[in-house]
Amino acid sequence: MLLKDIKEVYHRELDENYSREEVDSMFYLMIEHFLGLERFILAIDPNIVITKEEEQYMFEGLSKLKKGQPIQYVLGETTFMNLKFMVNASVLIPRPETEELVNWVLEDIKNRDDDLEIIDIGTGSGCIAISLAKLKPNVNVTAIDISKSALELAKKNALLNEVNVQFREVDILKAGSLSKKYDSIISNPPYVREMERDKMHNNVLQNEPSAALFVPDEEPLLFYRAIAKQAREGLKENGVIYMEINQYLCEDVKILLKEFNFSEIQLRKDIFGNDRMIKAKLSLVN
Ligand SMILES: C[S@@+](CC[C@H](N)C(=O)[O-])C[C@H]1O[C@@H](n2cnc3c(N)ncnc32)[C@H](O)[C@@H]1O
Repeated sequence: MLLKDIKEVYHRELDENYSREEVDSMFYLMIEHFLGLERFILAIDPNIVITKEEEQYMFEGLSKLKKGQPIQYVLGETTFMNLKFMVNASVLIPRPETEELVNWVLEDIKNRDDDLEIIDIGTGSGCIAISLAKLKPNVNVTAIDISKSALELAKKNALLNEVNVQFREVDILKAGSLSKKYDSIISNPPYVREMERDKMHNNVLQNEPSAALFVPDEEPLLFYRAIAKQAREGLKENGVIYMEINQYLCEDVKILLKEFNFSEIQLRKDIFGNDRMIKAKLSLVN
């Protein structure tokens, strides 16, 4: 079959739910990933023919996209901080906002050449922990998650990116204390309230793990409280905490951090102008 005809089928089947540009972009990602073809191939050779087997990959992918599966799950991979990460239904797809959180940490530690200890709480695919270990090699990174299957994938991602990260299965809501003292704690914990479900896209709701996203309406800060509590014991003096936050709850997170003796609290906005990240320093431990 001609590749250009498959592109037409993609448009016929997907244009109802996605813009033409999005469909083009998904089609090109699919041919790059499954067929090893460059995206400009159709410009060079408009009549390129693909094999039956290749056709099958393209149609299987199309049927997943039609069901609303995010392209990253269909490909089984994504890019974060210019690094490749495998993803599957047991982990959240790493978001660009989270890259900004990692960049904040990297900015702050760029001139540190001592051996820093950092922990990533709720690591999912391992994107935060692995990027930090890759981009700042003198950092010792620990990463924890409650999900066995997420940790399995995160370990594979560490191998893929050739870094050493200590992964541990821990429920942060029940954990006694962190096993050592850290210079920084980073976390992108679940923070979407159940009441916000209807603001979210169906393909997120139907495909991404809800335990990675949602918190109960009556206790939306439960992860921030647990992390702040751990941080009082688990951070070195003047240790720093960096967390991604729900834009609607930033004032509440600030109040909570003050209650737990944090100071120098700073907020940062994401590319969409929403308060999305918070940083705070642990004041002298009392
Ligand atoms: C919002 S996702 C973040 C994943 C990844 N760090 C990222 O930024 O893409 C939150 C993660 O917290 C984990 N998690 C949920 N409840 C947890 C708990 N009680 N203890 C530890 N991790 C938990 C989920 O499995 C999920 O991987």
